[in-house]
Amino acid sequence: MSSMSSMRHWDCVDDSHAPAPVVAPALPEFAGGLRLLHEGYGYGSKRFEQLQTDYFRARVLTTEAVFMRGLDAARFFYEGGHFARHGAMPASTTSLLQGSLSVQGLEGEAHRERKAMLVSLLDDDAWLLECFRRRWDQAARHWSMAQRIVLQQEIVPVLAEAAMDWAGVPVRSRDRGRPGELASMVQYSGTVGPVNWAARARRLRTEAWARSLIREARRSRDTRQTPLARLAHHRNRSGQLLSVDTAATELVNLLRPVVAVGRFIVYAALSLHRRARWRHAFEEGDEGDLMGFVDEVRRFYPFFPIIAGRAQNDLHWRGLALPKHSLVVLDLYATDHDPAVWPQPMRFRPQRFREAGDSLVVAQGLGEIETTHHCPGEGITRALMAESVRLLARDMRYEVPAQDLRVSLRRFPSGPKDGFIMSDIRLAA
Ligand code: HEM
Repeated sequence: MSSMSSMRHWDCVDDSHAPAPVVAPALPEFAGGLRLLHEGYGYGSKRFEQLQTDYFRARVLTTEAVFMRGLDAARFFYEGGHFARHGAMPASTTSLLQGSLSVQGLEGEAHRERKAMLVSLLDDDAWLLECFRRRWDQAARHWSMAQRIVLQQEIVPVLAEAAMDWAGVPVRSRDRGRPGELASMVQYSGTVGPVNWAARARRLRTEAWARSLIREARRSRDTRQTPLARLAHHRNRSGQLLSVDTAATELVNLLRPVVAVGRFIVYAALSLHRRARWRHAFEEGDEGDLMGFVDEVRRFYPFFPIIAGRAQNDLHWRGLALPKHSLVVLDLYATDHDPAVWPQPMRFRPQRFREAGDSLVVAQGLGEIETTHHCPGEGITRALMAESVRLLARDMRYEVPAQDLRVSLRRFPSGPKDGFIMSDIRLAA
């Protein structure tokens, strides 16, 4: 049995096992019930390896879906506009993440046009990085006076305030609850029932706030071209403004994921702690493998496990017929741990990116960003993570007291159990 399937809790230093190679693709008629929620991130990997295949069928509630993994599958899923996102993921998830009016729900020309606008807003990461550094420095001064802090909690207001500074949200329009609201959209996106409903209610509040920001930006005489102003005044090819609801959704979809980057930053802190040689290298200013380190964190640690789409036409892939409207699930986690792509996938090895050309990590999708659903925030995510590594390794000293640092593969979204507690924080002069 593979390392993936035999682990309940995944201790992040466990580098020891390499999953069995995939031998031959096969498509059994039916490969299991709704074990996905119960088994978590390892659900797909276990079956791909047990069945020695890159795709299998499984029932998800009342619908049959084809699960796929691997770079070929990811290219097929992302490139060519074969799969629409609308109606593919459960409402409990989409209503907390992108929402129904967002770019993710669009296809074809409408998608390309909206995406171009978002890509242009995210083009310049220097300003966001500056906002982030400023907020981090302010927070770090407080951290150095506290006995201990939990990075998973502290990073939320740092990123939320930085995102609002970057976007141009007026300070008087902010309130103390907003960072927590933005964080809870990701926190509860894998839940169902009352906790999910409560998070959706909080999202409605955030959207009402975002609508008021869009209306205010449209009334304002302020001529600064902030991302908020550009979004509020954006016109499509026919010269129409986005509806207030749509512009507000997209604003939330720029702020929320910046806060979500905090989860990767915590994983980066965990990796520096677990693997001191990298910490020392970055502390000394040796940044040769810095982006490899960042990409290895994005590949290695669990974030979004899967992404689903519905076939827009009758499709064929590797001899497999996928009739129009078929539900296809790309297993992002299994693809980032596919031994055919990543030798010894359970080892944390930033050096592996020295040999690679383009980053093939699919944690944020794949393909040309302008024309596919590939995440337009990938560049900003990598830049924020790299900056955090510098700030942690070079600009501060701290202790990591005894705590539970295991990362569960059964909890979504995951992270070190105790949230990465840091104590005795000293700032470099
Ligand atoms: C925590 C880091 C992040 C992760 C793990 C992540 C993950 C993803 C994934 C997997 C997709 C593809 C969804 C699909 O295939 O339908 C996506 C799309 C998207 N992401 Fe991210 N993302 C992150 C950060 C960001 C940031 C920082 C932004 C913007 C500030 C952003 C904005 C978006 C948008 C607007 C889309 C929709 C793109 C489209 O449908 O064309 N994300 N993200």
